[in-house]
Amino acid sequence: MHKKDSENKNINKYNVYIKTFGCQMNEYDSEKIIDILGTKKQIEIVKQAEKADIIILNTCSIREKAQEKVFSDLGRIKEIKEENPNLIIGVGGCVASQEGHEIIKRAPYVDIVFGPQTIHKVSSLIDSRILNNKPQIDISFPEIEKFDSIPLPKITKPTAFVSIMEGCSKYCSFCVVPYTRGTEVSRPFEDVLLEIADLANNGIKEITLLGQNVNAYRGVIGQSKEIADLAMLLEYIHEIPGIERIRYTTSHPREMTKRIYDAYVNLPKLVSFLHLPVQSGSDKILSAMKRGYSSIEYKSIIRNLRTARPGLKVSSDFIVGFPGETEDDFKKTLALIEDVGFDTSFSFIYSPRPGTPAANIPDINSHEIKLQRLQRLQSLINDQAKNISQSMLHSTQRILIEGVSKNNANELMGRTENNRVVNFACNNSNIGDLVDIKITQINSNTLRGEINYAQ
Ligand code: SAH
Ligand code: F3S
Repeated sequence: MHKKDSENKNINKYNVYIKTFGCQMNEYDSEKIIDILGTKKQIEIVKQAEKADIIILNTCSIREKAQEKVFSDLGRIKEIKEENPNLIIGVGGCVASQEGHEIIKRAPYVDIVFGPQTIHKVSSLIDSRILNNKPQIDISFPEIEKFDSIPLPKITKPTAFVSIMEGCSKYCSFCVVPYTRGTEVSRPFEDVLLEIADLANNGIKEITLLGQNVNAYRGVIGQSKEIADLAMLLEYIHEIPGIERIRYTTSHPREMTKRIYDAYVNLPKLVSFLHLPVQSGSDKILSAMKRGYSSIEYKSIIRNLRTARPGLKVSSDFIVGFPGETEDDFKKTLALIEDVGFDTSFSFIYSPRPGTPAANIPDINSHEIKLQRLQRLQSLINDQAKNISQSMLHSTQRILIEGVSKNNANELMGRTENNRVVNFACNNSNIGDLVDIKITQINSNTLRGEINYAQ
């Protein structure tokens, strides 16, 4: 439905352009937005905003830069709307949740505004916009309603994300998530299991349980008052026929339990890789961040996990330049990194977020210093990740075949448990198979291997 076809809105196809900012949760939500629109309307996804009838920006406000990008993008989209007045512009995600009506004030050409918890209403918001000729805003947090309205995705690969909880109740002093996504709400236990069983029936082999704090999962079991935790959920998922690999992200050190350590002993389908954000290695900074653990406690959690699962690889998020961070504090972060040994991780310069407690703490460091610390930290982590890759040379790795190699259509690619992409030649395995591969070459971003026919 482009330009002159606008009278036939209901019978025509909508070209949809969607841009996702920020985190995995947003990637997941964007896929769901497409699935939801696809069940209500005839749509086609386009790669150029100029060709779209509906443009959706799924925004992120975790750091200032991400937020700024949204408004500069909207400026460009305004020009497209001047050419095509029937264009529907939607702003979703955390900037929408935080700014609400302000978005329409600042960009009156925006048609719909929705939050992370109202993605299931996108289609009806568009309909109301067309019917009433007024911008529509819904940034409410209607508990778990979102999940009830989400259709099963189109299966195109053997891996899938399954959101098990929404929001966060940890209120780290630097973070907007509890304000933009709401507090922790878990999906009912059986809903999650049914969705995964459905996915498995449709060929999914690997699932990643998704949420801001998946190990804070507390799902009600049926009509009872009983509650399942993450460990119990993992045990049940492990028994679902067809599911071969289980991942989860993100988890919080404060919610690590003995039962989760036991899961690493008892559940071989749980990968030997864990993303467990530490943020800093200085107890003074961890306390100012309100993370709720000390660096010794974090190290002890990692020790317990590695006792349960020898060789477990761990990745993390780090923030440098938190207000009050001295060189000595920063050195404690480097020392913790040396001690623990991390795989590929994420690191950020602290970004003051309006409305969060840390935004009021005086900032003692120049941008120069923060940038230098970020570079020092990243170079240490990169060295550690490289060493991990290097240590995989000549080893046999179990990989899940995800598709055809990017650079060679005659080869296949898959991932190791610690997310290394492996390319290899193969003529009798299929996408979705788990195979043992001998690693023969380490490149900067990928590995090469040979299929082990002796398996
Ligand atoms: N739920 C996750 C984090 C979600 S946000 C947890 O358990 O920690 C993803 C990452 O963004 C955080 O781990 C943190 O490293 C970073 N981040 C969040 N707020 C930030 C801010 N104000 N400035 C810089 N980085 C931030
Ligand atoms: Fe943010 Fe801390 Fe939660 S980083 S998402 S408030 S655990």
